[in-house]
Amino acid sequence: MASAAMASMYQYRVTRIWNELQAQGKNCQQLLVPDLLELDQYHYGSTQAVDRAAERLQLTATSHVLDIGAGVGGTARYLAWKYGCRVTGVELQPHLHEAAVQLTRATGLAEQVHLLLGDFLHLDQLAIAGQQFQAWISLLVFLHIADRSTLFQNCARVLKPGGHFYIEDYYQRQPLTQADTEMLENTLSCSYLPTLEQYRQDLGTAGFTNVVIEDVTQEWRPWVSDRTARFLAQADYYTQVHGAEVFQSFAQFYQAVEDLFQRGNVGGVRITGQRPNLPR
Ligand SMILES: C[S@@+](CC[C@H](N)C(=O)[O-])C[C@H]1O[C@@H](n2cnc3c(N)ncnc32)[C@H](O)[C@@H]1O
Repeated sequence: MASAAMASMYQYRVTRIWNELQAQGKNCQQLLVPDLLELDQYHYGSTQAVDRAAERLQLTATSHVLDIGAGVGGTARYLAWKYGCRVTGVELQPHLHEAAVQLTRATGLAEQVHLLLGDFLHLDQLAIAGQQFQAWISLLVFLHIADRSTLFQNCARVLKPGGHFYIEDYYQRQPLTQADTEMLENTLSCSYLPTLEQYRQDLGTAGFTNVVIEDVTQEWRPWVSDRTARFLAQADYYTQVHGAEVFQSFAQFYQAVEDLFQRGNVGGVRITGQRPNLPR
C-alpha cells in the first residue's frame, strides 16, 4: 500500500505533466519521447542517469530489462527509445501507472514497454512472477521500501544467473536527526534508510556478487539545490500553469530534499552488481 505522503507527493507530479503539455499546446494522444523528458524523469540527473545505467548494464536492442518502481514510465520509455531494448516496468501507484500507460501509448512505444501495476514486494501477484530478466534497474525507489529482506530476495528472483543490476538511491551517511527522520517520513515517505555497509550486507545476503558501491552525494547535493533554485526562479510561470497549490507542493518538496542533503546526514548512492553465474 502506498502511504499518504507518497500518494500526495506523486499526485501533483502527474497533474504537472498534463498541465505542462497542455500549456505547450501538445497533442497528448501523440507525443515524442523528447517532449516528456523535462517531466517524466523522477530521479536525479535526468536522462544522464539513465544513459549511465544503460552503459553499465550494457543494454542493446536485444536486451529486456526490468524497471522496478517505474513511476510514470520515463526511464522505461527513454531506454526503449534510445537503446531499442524492451522494458517491463512495475509501479505501485495506480494513478502513476495509468499516466505511464497513456504516455507510453502516445509515444508509440507500447510494443516495447510493458507496464505492470503492483507492489514489487508482492512479486507472486505480478505477471512477471517466475520470469527472469538479464538486467534490472531501480532509480530512487528503494528509499520507499523498508522491508529490505523481501525486496532483495525478489530482486534476486527476477534476475537471470549472470544478470546485472543498477540502483540509484538514498543512504544514511551519518546518524539521522529527528528533523531528518520526520522529513524523510512525512515528505518523502521513507521510513528506513540503510547505511552503505548495511546495503552491502543486504545485497550479499541476497546472493549478489561483484557489488560496487559509489557514493554520489557530492554529485547530488548541488543538483538538488539547483533544482529548487531553477523552480523558484520560474515561480510566476509555474503558478500560472499549475495553480498556487501545485506550485507550493513542488516548492516545499524540492526545498525539503535540498535541506536534507545540505544537513549532510542523507546521501546518494549508485550500486551495480550481478547474480552469480550457475556453476558449470
Ligand atoms: C521517485 S519515483 C521514481 C520513479 C522512476 N524510477 C523514475 O526514476 O522516474 C519512486 C517510485 O517508486 C514507486 N514504488 C515505491 N514502492 C514501490 C513498490 N513496492 N513496488 C513498486 N513501485 C514502488 C513509487 O510509487 C514511485 O512511483
